[in-house]
Amino acid sequence: MAKIAIIGTGYVGLSSAVGFAHLGHDVVGIDIDKAKIAKLSSGQSPIFEKDIEVFLKKSLKKKKIAFTSDYSKVAGSQFVFLCLPTPQLDNGAADVSFILESTKMLSRHLKKSSTVVIKSTVPVNTWKLVKENINRDDVAVVSNPEFLREGTALQDFFKPDRIVVGCTDEVKATEVAKLYKAKKAKVVFTDNTSAEIIKYASNSFLAIKLSFVNEIAAYAESTDANALDVLNAMGLDKRIGKDFLKPGPGWGGMCFPKDVSALKESAQERNVPIPMLDAALESNLKAQLRVVKKISDALGGSLKSKNVCVWGLAFKANTDDTRFSPSISVINLLLKQGAIVKAFDPVVKHVPHLKIDVTSEIIQSVENADVIVVLTEWQEFKSIKPEIIEKWVKNKIVVDSRNLLDKSKWEKNGFRFIGNGYN
Ligand code: UGA
Repeated sequence: MAKIAIIGTGYVGLSSAVGFAHLGHDVVGIDIDKAKIAKLSSGQSPIFEKDIEVFLKKSLKKKKIAFTSDYSKVAGSQFVFLCLPTPQLDNGAADVSFILESTKMLSRHLKKSSTVVIKSTVPVNTWKLVKENINRDDVAVVSNPEFLREGTALQDFFKPDRIVVGCTDEVKATEVAKLYKAKKAKVVFTDNTSAEIIKYASNSFLAIKLSFVNEIAAYAESTDANALDVLNAMGLDKRIGKDFLKPGPGWGGMCFPKDVSALKESAQERNVPIPMLDAALESNLKAQLRVVKKISDALGGSLKSKNVCVWGLAFKANTDDTRFSPSISVINLLLKQGAIVKAFDPVVKHVPHLKIDVTSEIIQSVENADVIVVLTEWQEFKSIKPEIIEKWVKNKIVVDSRNLLDKSKWEKNGFRFIGNGYN
């Protein structure tokens, strides 16, 4: 069993810390946020993530995990994982200042011959800056990007599709790969720079795929076709793959928009622009506008003073994360056009700076609604009964941007049902 320090106990750091502790390693989570450390030490998770609190409590009980704000505690660890945020700067590039500051602080505390592992998503060549800051010949720097999806982070941690380990020192790279004890996962050993790019290329490819899917949905709507049949058939081709083919109100979250912009900036800076990334970003805005236009068209062409009921605020189901949520972007566009928005989400009860009524019960959200709009694919929305809802709404119209609800059920109850990708 190894001794591991995790710097940064945000979404990636905490999922990894809890995962490693569950595998039997001795983990210390380090974070400058003292309130967070106190919360974690008492077994409470600051994030909404499936099973995380259960695993956290178990590992605390077994004394396999501990939390502190004291950076010098890295001294006891053979492996130090950097899981700090790399937020988007105004120009679209990723801000690596948290990584660089922390490595400066860390250097003198690191154990002899230890390994610093960069897990955060970092722009190309950041590993070189980290190495410079650490400035120690005995310490190896390994690039090991994370591929955890919010909502299924622990499942992804224990059963990853692949583990990418970037470092030319084979011994160090193998040691890091072994920490995961994931027998079935493919381990890709490569150099640091390639590992850094793999992460950006993967997320950007998925974002481009989704933008294309949303374009096909829009195109199919302009014909007699059904995009859902088109996409389903496309997915049966193994080269395309069946995942990530669902049209929606645009893609969002803390990773895709940030990573696409950062790769775009980096490529431009190196004079090898990737226009597909510009197109994907532009297309994503179009996807949001398309939902707004559908709602407006369904209400006769104007949203002014119309009561819009929104179901879903999180950027996808099974998370409470509303950062870069397409749902919030759509709501802002609706508000701009004069709509009055009431929203319900099973877990999100408040969105900072968003001046709308977030109801605690679903039924309150539909009261007097001119239209109901589904923006997040929470499975619980499926079981909502139209025969109960119809008594509360003003107009019986549903715009389902995620194709989540059972169209025939709603139509049977007299609702006009507008899906995504067909007429
Ligand atoms: C994404 C990647 O999937 C992870 O592999 C990666 O580790 C992570 O970013 C990261 O960089 O940290 P995540 O942001 O949690 O994970 O969310 P996804 O499940 O990938 O969804 C992204 C967006 O695409 C959401 O808005 C989702 O609703 C949308 N989406 C996804 C669709 O609209 N249609 C689909 O078929 C799939």
